[in-house]
Amino acid sequence: MNLAVIGSGGREHAICYKLKQSPKLKKLICIPGNAGTQEIAINIKENVLNFEAIYKIIKKHNIDIVVIGPEQPLVDGLVDYLNKKKVDVFGPNKFSSQLEGSKEFMKNLCKKNNIPTANYGVFDNLNEALNFIKKQKIPIVVKADGLASGKGVTICYSIEEAFKNTKDILEGKFKSSKKVILEEFLEGEELSYFVIVDENSYYFFGSAQDHKKVGEGDTGPNTGGMGAYSPAPLLTNELEKKIKEKIIEPTIKAIKKSGNSYKGFLYAGLMINKNEPYLIEYNIRMGDPECQVLMMRLETDLLEIIDHTIKNDLNNIKIKWSKKNSITIVLCAKGYPFEYIKNSEIKNISNINLDKNNQIFHAGTYKKNGKIYSSGGRVLNITSLAENLSIARDKCIKEIKKINWTDGFFRKDIGWRGINKK
Ligand code: AMP
Ligand code: GLY
Repeated sequence: MNLAVIGSGGREHAICYKLKQSPKLKKLICIPGNAGTQEIAINIKENVLNFEAIYKIIKKHNIDIVVIGPEQPLVDGLVDYLNKKKVDVFGPNKFSSQLEGSKEFMKNLCKKNNIPTANYGVFDNLNEALNFIKKQKIPIVVKADGLASGKGVTICYSIEEAFKNTKDILEGKFKSSKKVILEEFLEGEELSYFVIVDENSYYFFGSAQDHKKVGEGDTGPNTGGMGAYSPAPLLTNELEKKIKEKIIEPTIKAIKKSGNSYKGFLYAGLMINKNEPYLIEYNIRMGDPECQVLMMRLETDLLEIIDHTIKNDLNNIKIKWSKKNSITIVLCAKGYPFEYIKNSEIKNISNINLDKNNQIFHAGTYKKNGKIYSSGGRVLNITSLAENLSIARDKCIKEIKKINWTDGFFRKDIGWRGINKK
């Protein structure tokens, strides 16, 4: 089969890496890809929001299935566009993508279906929002309604801070958002829970925990993710049953009831408090960097899984996971998550051992004249699979030290909660 992967991050490199192992794969293209995907797929430079151009590439390369990595093309309706042209796509349509694309949509769906989540209010009027804030407890969480590349959420520790962030959002700080969501602050530990969904059923697709804060000890500003580990030691059978019954199943049922369907990965960002799950957010795609650790643990052919999903036949496949633990550490460009160094040469990447227990997934990289350069804030994902989290982390750090890149930095404490639990 011929597959196309859309995106250019570590997530998409990890998906390509896994697809490449399938005996059924004939051709793999990545749009636009990075220096890592270039080694295993045909990279084709194109704007992932230019649907017409994407369609032309897909036709030219006789692609059987398109796998969409990032949220923006999903939220913008790339699936609907390609489906209309009879192209099979792995990913949810525009309607279902509102689960991530509109926090108001997601919160209202929760409320209507008794899905546990933080109490909230949605406002497009500043005075009404400010009156609401005055009546709430501090901290209060202020969120932009639409996509904001992980920058739309602030936990506010004073009324003034909440006012300022609310005003910024309503005055158009994020193009995607004309509304603000004001939310109760939830205490607890975060857990990423993944399922894969087709029109008839859904299947567990791994658990992970990630580190959103830039600094060690989970301090400093939020990022897209500084590292992740899987499985999440927090997830017990009892907790999983609650997550499925109270959150995942009512969501899928609600989507169906509205006359729609869901196809692809669904990622629940949860807060666990006293062994009870609360939904913080839905993502309609794989996590990045969570995908990198999940792909290391996945033992079933990913192409087979995707093909079964396209055919609404997930019921007839068994998905197997390694019992080992995986960690990924994100090597970032200095300055990230603010203004960061770009176009800086990274040396000695080829010194890293690559095998089924050790991989390096590229994110913001490109290759020029045989040399690798950085182009993004999150640049490389050094990923290991081992008997336990502590060994996996030591292996990642040992490998990172082989890379010669003075413009980069990383967190040495990825997985600390999981490691302390053992
Ligand atoms: P979101 O984009 O909604 O996932 O929010 C980003 C991050 O903000 C989450 O991963 C949490 O760490 C934090 N967060 C969001 N909403 C809440 C909440 N209601 N209570 C506590 N933390 C939250
Ligand atoms: N790592 C968080 C995300 O992908 O949204």
